[in-house]
Amino acid sequence: MKITVTNKKGVDVNPHMIGLFFEDINYGADGGLYAELLENRSFDFFPTMEFDDISPLTAWDKVGNCVFESCREHPMNNINPQYAYIKGEAGEGIVNRAYEGIFCEKGKKYDFSLYVKGNAKLKVEIKTENALCCEASIEAEGEEWKKYSLEMESNETVYNGKLYITFLEEGECDIDMASLFPRDTFMGRKNGLRADMAQALKDIKPGFVRFPGGCIVEGTVIENRYRWKDTVGPVEERKINWNRWQDGNVGITAHDYFQSYGLGFYEYFLLCEDIGAQPLPVLNCGMACQYKTGECVPMDELDEYIQDAIDLIEFANGDPDKNEWAALRARMGHPEPFNLVYLGIGNEQWEENYFERYEAFQKVIAPLYPDIKLITSSGPSAQGKEFDKAYKWLEGKKEDFAYAVDEHYYVKSEWMFDNANRYDSYNRDGVKVFAGEYACHIGDKQPKPNSLEAAIAEAAMMTGFERNADVVTLASYAPLFARVNYTQWHPDMIFVNNHEIMLTPSYHVQAMFGNNLPDYTLQFEREEDGDVYISAGYKEGEYILKVANRGGKKDVVLSLPEGVMEIEEITLTSEFMTDINTMDNKDKVSPRSLTRPVGGSREINLTVPPLSFNVYKLK
Ligand code: AHR
Repeated sequence: MKITVTNKKGVDVNPHMIGLFFEDINYGADGGLYAELLENRSFDFFPTMEFDDISPLTAWDKVGNCVFESCREHPMNNINPQYAYIKGEAGEGIVNRAYEGIFCEKGKKYDFSLYVKGNAKLKVEIKTENALCCEASIEAEGEEWKKYSLEMESNETVYNGKLYITFLEEGECDIDMASLFPRDTFMGRKNGLRADMAQALKDIKPGFVRFPGGCIVEGTVIENRYRWKDTVGPVEERKINWNRWQDGNVGITAHDYFQSYGLGFYEYFLLCEDIGAQPLPVLNCGMACQYKTGECVPMDELDEYIQDAIDLIEFANGDPDKNEWAALRARMGHPEPFNLVYLGIGNEQWEENYFERYEAFQKVIAPLYPDIKLITSSGPSAQGKEFDKAYKWLEGKKEDFAYAVDEHYYVKSEWMFDNANRYDSYNRDGVKVFAGEYACHIGDKQPKPNSLEAAIAEAAMMTGFERNADVVTLASYAPLFARVNYTQWHPDMIFVNNHEIMLTPSYHVQAMFGNNLPDYTLQFEREEDGDVYISAGYKEGEYILKVANRGGKKDVVLSLPEGVMEIEEITLTSEFMTDINTMDNKDKVSPRSLTRPVGGSREINLTVPPLSFNVYKLK
């Protein structure tokens, strides 16, 4: 097959085009990216509309005959009013299960803190039945709530440690906000993120991070929607919420799934800054998840929601001397603005109830903040009645109405291969596209695998994004993280347990695009071959060609407008379309890179392996 890349410029590519979609699903935040090791640290879980039997003491057990009760009489604050009372003999106390146990590493430091009210001598340990990792003590005094902090260093490496708080001598006290962090968080930040997980995100070179979801933005009902204001300020004053994914998906429920909001909007903005990505927050638009209750806030009560959007823009970009939300950002440690540009109004919303609510937001925000790029939604799938209605509504609309419309597709590989040219025929003159959630779903059986086939289908689709970068301005695979044994949705991009991460073939495709994004595309000619999906572009002295091949080996003659000295070939392939990575075989499907000289040639012979996605960089 012959591919002839010309020097005719196609379209500019948004340097932020390839981004991330973060949602607290599959324990992506607490128990995931947020490095806090304890579960239900503030004794504040509560019964929800999904499960009426949830205890405030969830995840904690008694040691010995300790009295262990939930109280509300003298809270640390009224935002999270529950705390625990303990009373016991020496050696008695409580233990936190910490999801499936704490990964505690020899020689590493851990920061523990606890609020205590009362006089008590307490021992704090991380240990298993066979190994004591760390031990320290607290001598609490006084009738006011007081924070005690301990630095601990581990003498052992264990994978299933538990955190014990026991009495050194007979005593009683009130306790709240027990917290344990590894010292080595990502970038060493306090209240920080798990280093390996955040690094994996950085390695994609993402252009943006969309947060905090997903359906949790909407909530099952309006009552448990995501309210960003609950997620900023001191961590002990962030009002915990139950997670909309308690009800799970495809029958997998998550009884004890809450949002501590320790990873809140400030931390999301910081993460973006730390990994060089643009923040793309999505706000509730006055509607609960339309897959659940679809509850709508009356139009005449929408002001609070619109004000939340205005306050968020100020929190991110405002002057601390002029705005209270900007002042809070400064107090939290970031007087400089976060340079928010993109803002999503509503998640996966559809039809008239949404259209009128979006318009109400747009009418207020666009004139006040003309530089903010608003993002609207076309509903839950990229075709069909709701989708068509959204595009009808957007007919004739321009960037001042909505910068981009969020399209979602969780689809079979055939759909992706068939739709790789979908954007070739889109209107170039209207609202752009944000492919805000997409993933290839193989088969109908759960768990759906992150196979090589899925990755190649996604790569084929993404060559279409890139070729049409004047239409598709932003794109993010979804969902991002899944904690093994705590997963409600398959497939996902990155799997984790308490000590390691597993990158899927889909992850590698994202990284290959994110790391090799051209400044602009180049027009090319090609011989027809239904197995092969291509995009071509140019950046800083390099031609960049991407080739997804769903078929057998292809011998390609690549012709370029000028001679090149060197080619780097990055290839993702494996023997079978069904191949996947697992925790035991993490690199089965992972990219290999090879660089070879080509001596100033304009014509290069390429051997495109069967079932592969390839990036060719020609200098
Ligand atoms: O990515 C998982 C879910 O899929 C998102 O929360 C929602 O927007 C979509 O339905």
